[in-house]
Amino acid sequence: MNERIKLHDKVFKPMITNERIEKAIDEVAERMNRDYEGCTDTPVLLCILNGSIMFTAELMKRLSFNVELISMKLSSYVGTTSTGKIRQVMGMTGSVEGKRVIIVEDIVDTGNTIVDLQRIVKEKGATEVKICTMLLKPEVYHKDVKLDYVGMEIPNDFIVGFGLDYDEIGRNYRDIYVLDPDPDYHVTE
Ligand code: IMP
Ligand code: MG
Repeated sequence: MNERIKLHDKVFKPMITNERIEKAIDEVAERMNRDYEGCTDTPVLLCILNGSIMFTAELMKRLSFNVELISMKLSSYVGTTSTGKIRQVMGMTGSVEGKRVIIVEDIVDTGNTIVDLQRIVKEKGATEVKICTMLLKPEVYHKDVKLDYVGMEIPNDFIVGFGLDYDEIGRNYRDIYVLDPDPDYHVTE
């Protein structure tokens, strides 16, 4: 993975290999399996579209207890910055009432999304809400919401790949790339 990629007007360079990401997901799944081992209810995995789609799929494959999958779609980012205003683009595809819920996010940045999500899920009658995120930017996260499962911590840089996008593209790459600030660099088209 030495190749840089170009998305819209920006260039991104390799940052985290797929192997490293999968190892982090293995570890999250192991912890989750331990925590939910022998449960008699059916917890809900709430996949936050679109960014969390790949992470949720990889995580689910590794879970050894029964789960129900519900999705919803939110949007807070425009370009490479968080607007701080969360829009609910698509509501929940199922009911969480009376259920234990694990919110599955791609990345927690300012935490605005997760704070809103936790409130929404509680309002919808979930009996317990846990947060699972593949990535965390600890330098930016100052909210009180407890993050129960964190795959990896990263610096406060804008990244793409493995589900994460820059204005809707870049989600398909299996590795994670970081914005290359070197303005002199040009990729050949
Ligand atoms: P927060 O509300 O600031 O925590 O932002 C969370 C959401 O913003 C995530 O679910 C992502 O969709 C998006 N996001 C945050 N950081 C990045 C990034 O570095 N690349 C792409 N999307 C990001
Ligand atoms: Mg997201």
